[in-house]
Amino acid sequence: MHVVPRRRVLGASVGVGLGFGLAGMGAEAAKSPARERPQPGDLVVFRFGDNAGQPVTPDDVPGGEELLQVITKDPSSGVVRDGTRLNGINLVRVDPSSLDPETRDNAAGEVVAFSSVCTHQGCDLTQWLPDTNTFKCYCHYSQFNAVKNGEPEHGPATRRLAMLPIKVNANGHLEVAGRFSGKVGFK
Ligand code: FES
Repeated sequence: MHVVPRRRVLGASVGVGLGFGLAGMGAEAAKSPARERPQPGDLVVFRFGDNAGQPVTPDDVPGGEELLQVITKDPSSGVVRDGTRLNGINLVRVDPSSLDPETRDNAAGEVVAFSSVCTHQGCDLTQWLPDTNTFKCYCHYSQFNAVKNGEPEHGPATRRLAMLPIKVNANGHLEVAGRFSGKVGFK
């Protein structure tokens, strides 16, 4: 049975990834700039809506049950890295004191960034549970702990959700500070 997420996703395409772009998800992205994984120095930009392609600041990231779907952009070429859904990222706001040391190193204060693609079978992660600091997948109910570096909990997924290191740059915008902490997608 298909289950429709109840909570809001800012800016967003709420949906499940099965049946879209799953072929080849385990393969490395082709080397076109739009398909390359986020690179250090990329700007974090809105993925959907009227602000699509515009830089994101920490204040744009909601609290509570909302997550913000973003992507990254090469500030030199202007290329938005939206050539593959594997580059989708969710931003959420957490209590910094709850972060384990490794996760804190990759956070921008209260804001953390994780791949939006479930590591079990590749569905889009569209639900954020602030009480447990977990992303929940509606396909088979895996959960990933965002204050413990994406550790899988409560479901069939066995691999961590990749975290993307971010920081606030001199302009007050969120910027990529390193590469994904692990492989994105499933397998
Ligand atoms: S695809 Fe996410 S739990 Fe199966």
